[in-house]
Amino acid sequence: MLSWDEFDKEDGADAVVANNASAQQADMGFDKLDQVGGAAAVEARAVASDDSAAVARAKASLDQLDIAEGLAELEGTAARVAVDEKRMINCRADLNQLVPFKYDWAWQKYLDGCANHWMPQEVNMNADIALWKTPDGLTDDERRIVMRNLGFFSTADSLVANNLALAVYRLITNPECRQYILRQTFEEAIHTHAYQYCIESLGMDEGAIFNMYHEIPSVAKKASWGLKYTRSISDPTFNTGTVETDKELLRNLIAYYCVLEGIFFYCGFTQILSMGRRNKMTGVAEQFQYILRDESMHLNFGIDVINQIKIENPHLWDAQLKDEATQMILQGTQLEIEYARDTMPRGVLGMNAAMMEDYLKFIANRRLTQIGLKEEYPGTTNPFPWMSEIMDLKKEKNFFETRVIEYQTGGALSWD
Ligand SMILES: [Fe+2]
Ligand SMILES: [Fe+2]
Repeated sequence: MLSWDEFDKEDGADAVVANNASAQQADMGFDKLDQVGGAAAVEARAVASDDSAAVARAKASLDQLDIAEGLAELEGTAARVAVDEKRMINCRADLNQLVPFKYDWAWQKYLDGCANHWMPQEVNMNADIALWKTPDGLTDDERRIVMRNLGFFSTADSLVANNLALAVYRLITNPECRQYILRQTFEEAIHTHAYQYCIESLGMDEGAIFNMYHEIPSVAKKASWGLKYTRSISDPTFNTGTVETDKELLRNLIAYYCVLEGIFFYCGFTQILSMGRRNKMTGVAEQFQYILRDESMHLNFGIDVINQIKIENPHLWDAQLKDEATQMILQGTQLEIEYARDTMPRGVLGMNAAMMEDYLKFIANRRLTQIGLKEEYPGTTNPFPWMSEIMDLKKEKNFFETRVIEYQTGGALSWD
């Protein structure tokens, strides 16, 4: 048996010979292991005298298992995967083989997402609870902002998660992108958890907040605008593979990544983070800060996916779809401007609806150009440059310095 010390001693030509020899040995080992292992498995399948009738029946039914039939139901062909076969949509290669990677950016985002892991309970909510319960701790306008945003976001992240799990995941035919989509879906669950945690901590009327997307028009309009784009592709019989269905998937990706996560979140994020910067509701603001960092990565992933699909399928990105995409982003911007007016009927927290309108137009220009469309609000500037700083924030640098609990990554496992 080789030890690490012996590996350390090897160098030069001797090492190459030794490595080749051990590689051959490893291959032979595989063959031999197959033979020995196969025989041992057959032996284990034999019905023993002390087997109960149920155990004997289970063993007998496995004699009927047809491996080829089972694996044939998997997506893609059965061969080892070559990078050139990989495609964002309508791919024929085996989707269960993660490597070789083709889209390194997707895998890198998966790794970055994991490195940014956080949980809502890490954030200390005590100052928020005290402030919220003090009768004149916040103005009516400030309370309106907290309630409206918790109302919108508590369900919006569920809409995003459902769209990913029930529609997008199945239709994106690339394993490294699917790996990120699984990570994103879990992050959306953490976000919904974070909103629930804020609502519970502040002792709010949970039913009223969670049902706000049915009751408050400016919230309901944004939710129903997004849902319209999930309807067809979440039908289990929907499949890509025609120009029309491929375009329908692209519309969904633009609606969710560019508009829902790329525009609909921005008025609320700006309002709550502005509150945190003024030392008010710092726990809620810190939760939103972590969520915003996750969301900016979701958005960047979505933009990369959309652009890659366009590169691989240039015929989809025709004048008609470009016009539709522009219209979707402009409609989304308009709905977010209306949401800004509803949540800020007067100036509050050093901002007002007109400034937010400028910010949203600035964001809309970014979304348009990110997917190769032209700006529709030329000359607009960003009135809130501090927002970009917060988005780039590393977890170690705690903006509000309220974090108290160390996240335990390993948990406490025991073999007993
Ligand atoms: Fe989210
Ligand atoms: Fe998201």
